[in-house]
Amino acid sequence: MKIAIVTDKPRIEVLKNKEGLLEDKQKKQTIEEIKKVLSKRFKCINLVFDDNIVENLKKEQVDLVFNLCNGIKGNDRLSQLPAILEYAGIPYTGSSPLSHGLAYNKIYSSILFKKIGVPTPDFIYVYNIMELEDVNLNYPVLVKPKDEGSSRGIYENSLVYNKKELIKKVEEDLKIYNPPILINEYIEGREFTVGILGNNENLKVLPILEIDFSNLPKDLNNIYSFEVKNYYGDKTTYHVPARLDNRIKRVIEKTSIKAYNILGMEDYARVDIRLKKDIPYVLEINSLPGLMKGHSDITKMAKAAGLDYEGLIMTIVKNAMKRQNII
Ligand SMILES: Nc1ncnc2c1ncn2[C@@H]1O[C@H](COP(=O)(O)OP(=O)(O)OP(=O)(O)O)[C@@H](O)[C@H]1O
Ligand SMILES: [Mg+2]
Repeated sequence: MKIAIVTDKPRIEVLKNKEGLLEDKQKKQTIEEIKKVLSKRFKCINLVFDDNIVENLKKEQVDLVFNLCNGIKGNDRLSQLPAILEYAGIPYTGSSPLSHGLAYNKIYSSILFKKIGVPTPDFIYVYNIMELEDVNLNYPVLVKPKDEGSSRGIYENSLVYNKKELIKKVEEDLKIYNPPILINEYIEGREFTVGILGNNENLKVLPILEIDFSNLPKDLNNIYSFEVKNYYGDKTTYHVPARLDNRIKRVIEKTSIKAYNILGMEDYARVDIRLKKDIPYVLEINSLPGLMKGHSDITKMAKAAGLDYEGLIMTIVKNAMKRQNII
């Protein structure tokens, strides 16, 4: 059995700033850690997703791809490697092209959540500021890109309190991010993230993790903004398992499973939640959550479930093998 860990080409523009350099370093570290685990049981190589990926995978006679590709460009960037692997008939870890596409696009995922009764913030989306003329919203609202991750595009000033601020922020975002721009009802409340492993009826919900913003400087918003993620790590407290009574814990788990299933997640994913008046609002699903040992949320949740890093990576691989009938 041979596994190839496949990653994106390094993005030159990302390496131009401090955050990008750190992200690149963390990615390299993650590859090494996963390789260490997989090499104990399988032949393991790592490859870069480029024009020759199918040829290289076939030449190396790879049985399974461990997918770590977020893609480089395009609205469907997370779907690109899985789509190529589907075409080539090569099994891989994680979700399908369609599911990555739905999860990555917060408009489509929100529409599906609403349709099946998974609570999610009310939202509108606009292609230009003229569309804002006749809309009446309950402020504050959060302005965010529909398809970014790691809080790119979610800054302190993304939470806006009136129409004037809204127009300014949407105008600014339209110049940077793919239209349409999403405008979300702001959910005031505690924040949680839920790790799920498995497929179909064999799902394992990991201990829920709470991200506690109460130690942040008072002039910052209680959101996991780009600023908070990158510069206030020491002021953000993680509680895992989260401080929840059993009833709410179960409601969050059930809601997260429902959200995971409607988007067709496979093998593993992380569901982001804000809790308001005991209702868990699903903000988004991360279909390719970070797997950096001891750092990424899902590794912390797994640890709290008694699953060390090796156990987590092996569970993902075993789920993928079982799902695709690889013995
Ligand atoms: N509707 C909302 N109400 C309250 N807070 C929100 C809302 N939407 C987003 N946030 C805040 O912004 C943060 C980032 O939002 P979101 O999870 O949508 O972005 P992301 O960049 O995809 O995140 P990730 O790093 O998980 O990929 C959330 O963790 C939350 O703190
Ligand atoms: Mg998130």
